[in-house]
Amino acid sequence: MRNVTDLNFPLTLAPMVGLSHVALRRLIHDYLPKQATTHWPTEMLNSRRIPGENLKFTPETLRDEFESHLVPQILGNEEKPIAESVRRLVNEWGASGIDINMGCPVQKALKHNYGVSLMGDVQYAARVVEVTKKNSTVPVSVKLRAVGSSHSVPELILFVNTLVEAGADWITLHPRTAEQKRRGHADWTQITELKKNCKVPIIGNGDIQVVGDVLDMMDKTGCDKVMAGRALAARPWMMWQLGEKLGMESPEMFQNLHAPQSPEAEGAEYGRALLRFIDYCEYYFMQQAGSSENLTLRKVSFFVRTTHVWLEFGHALMSAVSVAKNLTELRENVRRFFESEQRMMQKTELRQ
Ligand SMILES: Cc1cc2nc3c(=O)[nH]c(=O)nc-3n(C[C@H](O)[C@H](O)[C@H](O)COP(=O)(O)O)c2cc1C
Repeated sequence: MRNVTDLNFPLTLAPMVGLSHVALRRLIHDYLPKQATTHWPTEMLNSRRIPGENLKFTPETLRDEFESHLVPQILGNEEKPIAESVRRLVNEWGASGIDINMGCPVQKALKHNYGVSLMGDVQYAARVVEVTKKNSTVPVSVKLRAVGSSHSVPELILFVNTLVEAGADWITLHPRTAEQKRRGHADWTQITELKKNCKVPIIGNGDIQVVGDVLDMMDKTGCDKVMAGRALAARPWMMWQLGEKLGMESPEMFQNLHAPQSPEAEGAEYGRALLRFIDYCEYYFMQQAGSSENLTLRKVSFFVRTTHVWLEFGHALMSAVSVAKNLTELRENVRRFFESEQRMMQKTELRQ
């Protein structure tokens, strides 16, 4: 892959700490139309830790043989750990690209002067791109947040174009400000402006809940691709629904079937997907990486905490999941919950 636009599918998963791991990627991959190709994230990886990590067994860097076009996301600002992380991720682990996090607003990132704080100093941010690019044989991208107001859009364009000159091959914009965190309205006009004024591919992110939003964002902003996080975890079959709209074949696993559409069909699919997700978590984290059952339960619980908000009675599912003491109880509780018909809502207010 020379750039993301070499891949034919316009929807991609967002990097999410605690969620964008091999088990979720596998679940979403199940719903990818046959012949569709897109790139895949990891959770954010700290460049100070990657050099000393066992990449094969660490939950955040577990990967499957079938996976391709992986673009791990790194957090960092110093040349030595970045260079060593990139070298290991590309040569040992098989990364097809490297994404730099310039959007993380948590206190720790601010204290260490990386994540979104890189957006405060354009020359410094450009230097991070430069050293990443210098040490990488694969494309380098940057994921960033919105600037404060629409008055600052020229500033954003200047910032991005400086990163492009420093070597960024594509840009992902999540147009919410650091103060907004992940709530409130995402200002898509900033995606439009970037697309109009920058020469590299632009990926838009934010306020995507259903497949119609993907097409809407592409239409309104002209972005090259759309990235979705929470909603794509909740309804991974959005990949399939989009494939149908684009005239692509059904996913391998669902030959000759149609993607779920009604609230009831989506509710039932959530139940089936969750049971498969539990199997995948058990397989990767316990059997492959030798992690504890507890860690596996926590991964499933975090997935449900993020995604249950689209289910009409999601809070009841959340309780059923959080009381399970082991995987047998967890599966039993999930099965029981989905014995009665469940409905999935199109839209919900995102608070997490
Ligand atoms: C639980 C969680 C963890 C996240 N972790 C990361 C991260 O590691 N790196 C990053 O760039 N963004 C991270 N994000 C932000 C998402 O990538 C995305 O920009 C944001 O959630 C908006 O997209 P969405 O509304 O489709 O979820 C995270 C979001 C969530 C919900």
